[in-house]
Amino acid sequence: MKRRDFIGQTGLAMFGVTGLVLPSDAKPTPRSWDADDAEDLFKAKQAIDSSEIIDDLKPTVARELGPFYRSGSPYRVKLTPPFEPGTVLVVTGRVWSFETKKPLANAMLDLWQVDNQTADYSAGNGDFKNRARLITDENGAFEFETVHPIPYEPSPNFWRSPHIHFIANAPKHRQLVSEMFFKDDEKQDVDRLFHPALVVPVNRKTINGKEYETAVFDIVLESEK
Ligand SMILES: [Fe+2]
Repeated sequence: MKRRDFIGQTGLAMFGVTGLVLPSDAKPTPRSWDADDAEDLFKAKQAIDSSEIIDDLKPTVARELGPFYRSGSPYRVKLTPPFEPGTVLVVTGRVWSFETKKPLANAMLDLWQVDNQTADYSAGNGDFKNRARLITDENGAFEFETVHPIPYEPSPNFWRSPHIHFIANAPKHRQLVSEMFFKDDEKQDVDRLFHPALVVPVNRKTINGKEYETAVFDIVLESEK
């Protein structure tokens, strides 16, 4: 039975179920960072076009994987548990293909960062605090929420500036292992794994009377050789 026939025969409209059908002119769900300014958001969302081409892309610089990656992180768009201490940070961006200059839908990001309370990484294998995976949308876009990471000292006289580790994977593209850094954070001058090309500015916003941060981090992947 075709779906249309099924709907016709079961007469869903009689039960008032049609109210659940998304109308064709429905507006997209607001992103949290713009929920207080929905009209502008809708315009911005409509302006995103998966056929968009940006000519001056550069492949994103790679960094070391480090010892704290763990596979199997949950798919979610919030790395930290509710009410984790620290400044809320919402990171948005898009994953791009260096060769085609177009956004990559269905790219996967695997994200992990240090614990703001213990200055350590969660164990994985059941404890995935401060870890998440996500998939980019049809426009190559992603968004996740976390707290602004802290600097930490993994060994004496070796400081890491605040960063978020990530692995980016997309079909027919080379896997990228790297880190996100944020402008004007401390310890960047002594962090030998820091890279200035991976720094993005942070904007401060207020919502519901509380301050939080936003940052935009775009990722550019090279094709498989
Ligand atoms: Fe780290």
